[in-house]
Amino acid sequence: MDYQGLISNCVRRIPPSGIRKYFDLLDDSHISLGVGEPDFPTPDRIRKYVAERLKTERVPYSSNSGDPHLRELILRFLSEKYSISGYESIENVLITVGASQAIDLAMRSIINPGDEVIYHEPCYVSYAPSIELAGGKAVAVVTKHEDKFRLKADAVKAAITPKTKAVLIAFPTNPTGAIMERSDLEAIADLVRGTDILVIIDDIYAELTFNGKQHVSFAALPGMLERTIVLNGFSKAFSMTGWRLGYAAGPAELIAAMRKVHQLMMLCAPTPAQWAGIAALEQGFADDFADTRYMINEYESRRRFIIDAFNSYGLDCNEPEGAFYVFPSIRSTGLTSEQFCDGLLASKKVVTVPGSAFGAAGEGHIRCCYATSMEHIEEAMRRVGAYLKEIR
Ligand SMILES: Cc1ncc(COP(=O)(O)O)c(C=O)c1O
Repeated sequence: MDYQGLISNCVRRIPPSGIRKYFDLLDDSHISLGVGEPDFPTPDRIRKYVAERLKTERVPYSSNSGDPHLRELILRFLSEKYSISGYESIENVLITVGASQAIDLAMRSIINPGDEVIYHEPCYVSYAPSIELAGGKAVAVVTKHEDKFRLKADAVKAAITPKTKAVLIAFPTNPTGAIMERSDLEAIADLVRGTDILVIIDDIYAELTFNGKQHVSFAALPGMLERTIVLNGFSKAFSMTGWRLGYAAGPAELIAAMRKVHQLMMLCAPTPAQWAGIAALEQGFADDFADTRYMINEYESRRRFIIDAFNSYGLDCNEPEGAFYVFPSIRSTGLTSEQFCDGLLASKKVVTVPGSAFGAAGEGHIRCCYATSMEHIEEAMRRVGAYLKEIR
């Protein structure tokens, strides 16, 4: 059989993930700064809450939109944490299987063949494929090291055409850790105000900001709620990656369109994961999100250490103010990012991810995730130092 011939052209065109390649090679002698997930267990009290309910309750499908109480809590969370208020009811919220599914649903619900969606690179690996699998054209706008990897309104403006359906904005960003200040976002709001362009925001790292910076959500800017779909989830802020719980919030008609696709393809997000989401938010409101604050404090000291280590080796490392990644430049070594990461893995058994895995604009950098123990980070950085001595 010609299996390749059977696979759709679009799927064949999508390159294999530049991240997974590195994980498939791991054993205990390796140190990984590769995977973008918290190293903390899901907070105990969330697990206990779910375990108790599992003892006595059936595990049925939930409503297609998701548990109504969870959706109420999410409305409160968005309002109290990010000043996203003005949604009329829980019909503005859809519970999904991770933010990943929310991204896919948003694209599939709005895109007609040939519609253009602007996104920024380097970025999370699923954006361009999600746009293209939905039949759209993914239009990359480059963010630059010298701009602290912030998205510039001028660059977005230059990418807008009559076919632009939406702009996808994701800050704090994976892989750069960049954040946007209010004024940066306002400049983009000025561009779309008065147009039919939708803005889709991936706020998955919104809780993870440093240096006293608070996340500013695009949806909270004056007049932007009506044109914004907010995507978020529990993976990063509550250390719940494997539970697969996310959500979308937005104008009720758009959320209803997403629900139509969701109910046909997924029925609902896993019910026990939704219980976990209820526990995460109820307990969080009760103690001002102490578990998340604890994790952020831990990340802060690791972040400081790893930034200083890269800069002391002469690998220019911006100070990222969000997420849990650093994105140092390896240009001074003369290697491509893939050569650098392959060499580091082969010689010192440290896993990092080439910047090129996050789009062409990531070339010249590597992504290191510091959501791993300080002990691992220290050892990894010793090995990076030794590797640099070998190749310089
Ligand atoms: C920017 C970004 N968005 C979305 C996701 C996926 O999140 P989830 O686990 O909620 O599907 C990730 C995962 O790494 C991410 O980095």
